[in-house]
Amino acid sequence: MTPARRLFAAAAALLAPLSTIPLVQAQNPVHQPDPRRGAVIAAQGTAPGAPPCAQCHAFNGASDSSGAFPRIAGQSAYYLTKQLHDFASGVRANAFMSPIAKSLSSDDIDNVAAYYAGLDSPFLPLKTAAPEITKRGEELATVGSAERRVQGCNNCHGPGGIGEPPAIPYLAGQYATYIAFELKMWQQGFRKSSADSMGYVAKQLDPADIAAVAAYYQQVRSLGEQAAKATGG
Ligand code: HEC
Ligand code: HEC
Repeated sequence: MTPARRLFAAAAALLAPLSTIPLVQAQNPVHQPDPRRGAVIAAQGTAPGAPPCAQCHAFNGASDSSGAFPRIAGQSAYYLTKQLHDFASGVRANAFMSPIAKSLSSDDIDNVAAYYAGLDSPFLPLKTAAPEITKRGEELATVGSAERRVQGCNNCHGPGGIGEPPAIPYLAGQYATYIAFELKMWQQGFRKSSADSMGYVAKQLDPADIAAVAAYYQQVRSLGEQAAKATGG
């Protein structure tokens, strides 16, 4: 063999195993999340019995204005995946989501999380609370409370509550009913994640604090837009 031919033969030998790669990938548990498969789960559910997510969260992840269902569009894939595993394992308990999460495979979870994480869906127009309530909420969100011994929520949840991905979800534009409900879930032990941060914070707050901070975050995006208009920004 000429050197060139030898080189070619060696390259061909190296390339040959490539044809087997798709099969190996299909069996490999470390797969690439596929948002298109996730979209099918969102629209149709799964054969083992998960209902379509869209029934409660809408196909665009904005859910509905009842606030009974969280907005999940644009939360990080890491956060959404973690919550679904938490529902399945019992770290987080909910009558709707626990059985649904248990009926999803690990691949389903990765795929549907990738789908909803990738959406930039509009925020639904919602009623705003009285200014004295949102003002108290804004204080808790930005500076916290020495009396309650809690730091400002935004220290962890990011400026304006836009989230600190991947681990910390956005609260800006999240439904007040849902935010208040989750803080009570931590108080009552139905949500056991982040015990030292969220578990602690929730237990320091009283019902009026919870209502105020939840109302503030629901409208913080529209307040931000109004402020920008007022200052011509
Ligand atoms: C029958 C209504 C219903 C359906 C269908 C449903 N969900 Fe939910 N989902 C809820 C409710 C209610 C909550 C709030 C649970 C709680 O308070 O702990 C929730 C919470 C979640 C959360 C946590 C969000 C957060 O901000 O922490 C994720 C993630 C989620 N659902 C994903 C899904 C996916 C994926 C599907 C489809 C496979 C789905 N849900 C189907 C009702 C539903
Ligand atoms: C020390 C950091 C830290 C502080 C301070 C903090 N949070 Fe959190 N928060 C977290 C983490 C981490 C999570 C994600 C928990 C999980 O993975 O389940 C979270 C999650 C949440 C959720 C759940 C959102 C969802 O989509 O389900 C709510 C609601 C929330 N925080 C409200 C607040 C409020 C209100 C305050 C201020 C009074 C606050 N947090 C302060 C770290 C913090």
